[in-house]
Amino acid sequence: MAVRPILKMGDPRLLRVARPVEALGTPEFAALLQDLHDTMRAANGAGLAAPQIGVDLQVVVFGADAPNPRYPDAPPVPKTVLINPVLTPLSETLEDGWEGCLSVPGLRGLVPRHTRLRYEGVDPQGQRIDRTVEGFHARVVQHECDHLQGILYPMRMRDFRQFGFTEVLFPHLGDAAADD
Ligand code: NI
Repeated sequence: MAVRPILKMGDPRLLRVARPVEALGTPEFAALLQDLHDTMRAANGAGLAAPQIGVDLQVVVFGADAPNPRYPDAPPVPKTVLINPVLTPLSETLEDGWEGCLSVPGLRGLVPRHTRLRYEGVDPQGQRIDRTVEGFHARVVQHECDHLQGILYPMRMRDFRQFGFTEVLFPHLGDAAADD
């Protein structure tokens, strides 16, 4: 178990296109999954992608069993480990919503995302995941899977007037978002 340092925007490792996972059952892969969970939990993240801890593989973790203090108003998203994901947008419509990122600490921005999408991949046991989701769940998946393409949410933004410090934009979050 280890909480790993989270890379911040500006680190070129966040801009790589991640490689597919080829071997699920190895001790190294189990240790990576544990580190992703530990790091996400320690940071109160809504999700975390392997590239954010410097690992060049197509793995994201997201969701939680309890409400997230950084996103107290967000509907719950099931705890998920998604490996080698493929996303298929199911809406033409893009909806703006506020996002933060542990690699872009202290800031939030308004980001357009598809409102509905299908995502496929496998879990750590190699079982297929195939879900059709919408709203905040769809947003989280798009954000995390963007990390696997070397895309950070500011690169998706259309209006930089809607970009600012979390403590200014959302003062009611208080300390919950201090490490945002
Ligand atoms: Ni992020």
